[in-house]
Amino acid sequence: MPREVIIAGNWKMHKNSSESKDFLSKFAPAVSDTLHTVCLAVPFPLISDISRQAKNSKIQIGAQNMHDAEEGAYTGEVSAKMLLDAGAEFVILGHSERRHIFGEDNAFVNRKLKRALESGIRPVLCVGETEEERGQEKTEAVLKKQLSESLADLSSGQISQVVFAYEPVWAIGTGFTATPGQAQAAHAFCRSVILSLSSEEVSKEVSILYGGSVKPENVREIMEQTDVDGVLVGGASLKPEAFAQIVNYQTMKV
Ligand code: PGA
Repeated sequence: MPREVIIAGNWKMHKNSSESKDFLSKFAPAVSDTLHTVCLAVPFPLISDISRQAKNSKIQIGAQNMHDAEEGAYTGEVSAKMLLDAGAEFVILGHSERRHIFGEDNAFVNRKLKRALESGIRPVLCVGETEEERGQEKTEAVLKKQLSESLADLSSGQISQVVFAYEPVWAIGTGFTATPGQAQAAHAFCRSVILSLSSEEVSKEVSILYGGSVKPENVREIMEQTDVDGVLVGGASLKPEAFAQIVNYQTMKV
């Protein structure tokens, strides 16, 4: 079975409601023929409206984070149930900005993953090394630790429901993309770690997205790599034309 191809956008802390409506009215018709899964992770306050607007389109709306508790006294936090109620279908977990700016560790990401799976919201688990770690040839050790600790105590069946994203921290928002060879090597390594934590079948069927300065100009060569099953796009997902070109990369002329 070919793996699911997922093109996901992450708006981070950008756009208000009228900007998001305008985006969708341009973007949705431009991707209406795609065979890929198209996802957009938007800020919490936009989820309800934009998921309603996206209802009859190819686009799945999701969130960029959640808390692991079911509910409780966690001021400022949002639960999986709330996200589902608002119309989110997936949630990004362990993004490097959450790890590095907000100090989230693998144990917290692991608890969130368990809650997401139990609640029926699809998790997109992000991993990736910093520039310093790559320079010290620690990339594989970092990826192995992030994956094994984030996936701790999950069954193979649960792991099969996770979407993975390899996002080298040095490539996020910097304009420096991993070379196709670097991306392939890291993806193949992640798949081997996933194999060690689940089964051959699961490791072959899970989708691993690449993230870090993906643009219309470089998406094709990244997508051509055997173990790259999609992309997670920050900056370029803010512009409907650019993000539609990325979704339609097979037919686009750059
Ligand atoms: P970028 O962000 O495409 O702007 O580099 C990617 C991400 O953070 O997911």
